Amino acid sequence: MTDQDKFNGTLDRIIAHYPQDQTSLIMVLQDVNKEFRYLPEAALKTIAQRLDVPLSKIYAVATFYKIFSLKPRGETHVRVCMGTACHIKGAPIILENIEHELGIKCGQTSQDLKYSIETVNCVGACSLAPLVVLNQKYYGNIKPTKIKSLFKGKKTDEN
Ligand code: FES
Repeated sequence: MTDQDKFNGTLDRIIAHYPQDQTSLIMVLQDVNKEFRYLPEAALKTIAQRLDVPLSKIYAVATFYKIFSLKPRGETHVRVCMGTACHIKGAPIILENIEHELGIKCGQTSQDLKYSIETVNCVGACSLAPLVVLNQKYYGNIKPTKIKSLFKGKKTDEN
């Protein structure tokens, strides 16, 4: 089975799980985004056909919600909170240290697809400021000196 076959099979399974109309759009996009860690263009075209939704509408939805990404995200998606509480407690320095540690800038994904970094506004856990989220896991009261240990054991040799 080729990668393309696997891709098509996964996509078919996701789409078939829901009613075949536009009411399923968000749920299908959520599942596709979760499965592939982003929304591949080929998937969006297939979804448009199968759910009979204009591709332009799908892109409008995909770019409106921050949970969706049109670019591949890393296996570990790093989100640094830049809300007011986190900002005051040093989030910009935390971000700088993470960028340095992972060798990529905010908004980028590492070439080996292990990491991606983005900033978010308040995620509603201000008492833990400054806060970093690795995939769905929250790490609060992060100190710049703790950044290395945050990624210890997760990094590959190339990083
Ligand atoms: S400002 Fe970062 S969690 Fe609220």
